[in-house]
Amino acid sequence: MKLIFLGPPGSGKGTQAKRVAAYLGVPHISTGDMLREAVARETPGGVKARDFIGSGLLVPDELINIILGERIERKDCQKGFVLDGFPRSSGQADMLTKKLQELSMTLDKVIDIIASFQVISERICGRRSCPNCGASYHILYSSPEKKDICNECGNSLVRRSDDTEEVVQARYKEYMEKTMPLSDYYKHKGLLYTVNGELDIEEVYKNIVNIILPKML
Ligand code: AP5
Repeated sequence: MKLIFLGPPGSGKGTQAKRVAAYLGVPHISTGDMLREAVARETPGGVKARDFIGSGLLVPDELINIILGERIERKDCQKGFVLDGFPRSSGQADMLTKKLQELSMTLDKVIDIIASFQVISERICGRRSCPNCGASYHILYSSPEKKDICNECGNSLVRRSDDTEEVVQARYKEYMEKTMPLSDYYKHKGLLYTVNGELDIEEVYKNIVNIILPKML
């Protein structure tokens, strides 16, 4: 199963994509996580990406396309993958279409998680993340068992540097201008399924599983 998760920042792409990937037993590929790791390791790509991420702008297509292209060529993607946060521009979508053709792969479905700016802003400003294993929490809606400690690995949780009100506005603007048009791109291909991301996490998950495996629940 080869899936894409689209949606504005904070709509719940990461939360749902990770869980769906684990359920399907395929890799969860988050370009945001890959970029943050590259920034932390100060790789040449990470150094180039740092300022874009910090100001809420998309990193240039030529940089992210290389990173993503190399990732889906890896053997573990042959049985499927869940893309979280890629593609985000028409250039990225075209690159992905070409890459999948080269690899003789077919995309199964695109899940578009919709939520208003007010909802996503509240979620992002309350988010806490684990810099070690990538687990994500919210101070009100999905708090860890021990305050500021990751349930999965026991590391201290942090607030992402781009999770401020000002940067969220910039991220949302980028989404509206560059990523939202991809909903139509995939609708025309007959692959788009829209999900209400303002429901609680379990309901959103059930609705997604009903779309990807309609007979399982
Ligand atoms: P990225 O890390 O992908 O960030 P984003 O798209 O802005 O998305 P978020 O991670 O903020 O939100 P999400 O939708 O995954 O929501 P989550 O599940 O975490 O990208 C960061 C940056 O990297 C970009 O700004 C850009 O600079 C760069 N980048 C990445 N990919 C790129 C690309 N392809 N091209 C160019 N640049 C790229 O949930 C958010 C919070 O809400 C959590 O606390 C969660 O617990 C909570 N929550 C989730 N669902 C619910 C719910 N249903 N109810 C209540 N709370 C919920």
